[in-house]
Amino acid sequence: MTSGTREKARLFFAAWPEPNVQQALHDLGQRLQRESGGKVVAAGNMHLTLAFLGDVESSRLPQIEAAAGRVVGTSSELLVNRVGYWRHNHIVWAGLEHCPDSLHKVVGSLSSALREIGFELDERPYVAHVTLLRNARRGPVDSMFRGISWPVHDLALIQSVPVEGKRAYKVLRRWPLTNV
Ligand code: 2AM
Repeated sequence: MTSGTREKARLFFAAWPEPNVQQALHDLGQRLQRESGGKVVAAGNMHLTLAFLGDVESSRLPQIEAAAGRVVGTSSELLVNRVGYWRHNHIVWAGLEHCPDSLHKVVGSLSSALREIGFELDERPYVAHVTLLRNARRGPVDSMFRGISWPVHDLALIQSVPVEGKRAYKVLRRWPLTNV
């Protein structure tokens, strides 16, 4: 480390699915790519962001982990059953027709814990989305489909690491969502 600079890590909290759910999301992305174009997110990178921290000094990791340990929440059974397109950033995403209260509560508790230690998080209401395609030229024609079941039992702290011009996501730690 050069003197005067501090090591940073790009961090976010996510619901990190099991490989079968990641694969189902990837398959959906591949289907939608036929009409939307763009690039499908790698199966192993599919996730649902719960709170984005950005580039953070690595020395703050213990404080962040302690905050995650204070999160109150229970597990959720998600049904990913809609897709959509954001024109401003050319993303095709998958989301939920009904986002369960249990997930909103986890996001609320996590956001409060992170604000208490000084993070300025996005103030906009939380919209659960999984990015499926980047640089897409148009949105999907049908926005509903049969759905992918996704049991969320824990909260994961993820580091986004640049690797050969791409981003690799590394699961640093998980906390079970068992407390009310
Ligand atoms: P995206 O997929 O919609 O781009 C890692 O980059 C994760 O954090 C992705 O899920 C990404 O969302 C999200 N992310 C990146 N920048 C963000 C920001 N400024 N605010 C909220 N989420 C962000």
